[in-house]
Amino acid sequence: MTNAILTVFATVKPLPEGVKIRPGHWPEDAPAIAMVRRRVFIEEQGVPEALEWEAIDPECDWFVACTGDAVVGIVRLTLQGRIGRMAVLTDWRGRGIGSGLLDQALAGAVRLGLPQVELHAQCHAMGFYQRYGFVAEGPVFSEADIPHQHMVLNLREG
Ligand SMILES: CC(C)(COP(=O)(O)OP(=O)(O)OC[C@H]1O[C@@H](n2cnc3c(N)ncnc32)[C@H](O)[C@@H]1OP(=O)(O)O)[C@@H](O)C(=O)NCCC(=O)NCCS
Repeated sequence: MTNAILTVFATVKPLPEGVKIRPGHWPEDAPAIAMVRRRVFIEEQGVPEALEWEAIDPECDWFVACTGDAVVGIVRLTLQGRIGRMAVLTDWRGRGIGSGLLDQALAGAVRLGLPQVELHAQCHAMGFYQRYGFVAEGPVFSEADIPHQHMVLNLREG
């Protein structure tokens, strides 16, 4: 695997001025990551709190989008190659931050030597992932009362 595939799928949109994406550090970033999850998944989307927090959280790779000290977007990559908890605060959406986070998660998966990544996309967001080459696998299913679709992206050429 070379980085070529990431170049193909990565967006060229620059991040908004002052926004940086960096690896998240657990436990220092855990409160800020939790704040974004609470606002986006629990409060905005109505995900039950009991489903939001997971015991694997501290073991995962996280990437955070920051403006100054404030975290405005997050994504999680499990060591098995599952991307999730992709979230950008409402005021910051549509400005390339989600794409920048996905770029970083995919680069992280390549560094881990993973052959593919997968995710459970909320159906409304499938277009966002399809732009990167993710393809749907299997039927739509419900998770936290939200329609989801399993999607995969092969990171190996050929
Ligand atoms: C999905 C989400 C992370 C995207 O973040 P974002 O910062 O707005 O994304 P970007 O600005 O990088 O968007 C990149 C492109 O994808 C498109 N896009 C963004 N969200 C989309 C969606 N839900 N469906 C289809 N396309 C989408 C944008 O229109 C944009 O296209 P453009 O470059 O032609 O303008 C954000 O909308 C969000 O946090 N949503 C609530 C939580 C959520 O649903 N997470 C996904 C769980 S699977």
